[in-house]
Amino acid sequence: MKFFMDTAEVESIKKANELGMCDGVTTNPSLIMKSGRDQKQVITEICKIVRGPVSVEGIGDTYEEMMKEALEFSKWAPNIVVKLPMTKEGIRACKSLSEKGIKTNLTLIFSASQALLAAKAGATYVSPFVGRLDDISEDGMVLVSDILQIFFAYDIKTEVIVASIRHPMHVVEAAKLGAHIATMPAEVFEKMFKHPLTDKGIQMFKEDYKKSQDAKKK
Ligand code: G3P
Repeated sequence: MKFFMDTAEVESIKKANELGMCDGVTTNPSLIMKSGRDQKQVITEICKIVRGPVSVEGIGDTYEEMMKEALEFSKWAPNIVVKLPMTKEGIRACKSLSEKGIKTNLTLIFSASQALLAAKAGATYVSPFVGRLDDISEDGMVLVSDILQIFFAYDIKTEVIVASIRHPMHVVEAAKLGAHIATMPAEVFEKMFKHPLTDKGIQMFKEDYKKSQDAKKK
């Protein structure tokens, strides 16, 4: 399973990358706003740090607007992936960009039918938002499971990026289902490392080592 960082915070991306855990990055206009930086400036910086795909999203509504933004984004770096909204216009842009060899990530996917449409339009990735479904008392992982069942049945090459991840168990559940990618905020990535018994065990081993050293001295 590939891990993407769902952030535009360069320091968090660097940290995950240094650990060899950052296979790519996803951003959206809200995450860019949170970073407080200019979109082009921060995305080009991220693209230099991370070798893997970096998703960037515009705000265009029409096919023409989306194509204009996408063609501009794709000039920024070779690892740019254009994020498109799951609308008819987005699907049309996805098809045109796929034909030009530009990678796409269809975002705001909330149903298996939307994922199937995106795959038929040649999307490189689809991003089902699990956390936002859980937030409204639906089960986001059921959607991931349905999409994967369809993609595996037809040997569809579109990869599933499980997005809107809220906690480590979302990553674990996505992995158990065989999802290709989990994109997660830095806080979730940090939490994945944590276990109180690991900390306690390290502490105990240190104390016992010190005791054995002290005993030798006597
Ligand atoms: O990449 C976008 C997605 O992960 C958004 O997450 O937490 O705003 O639902 P969230």
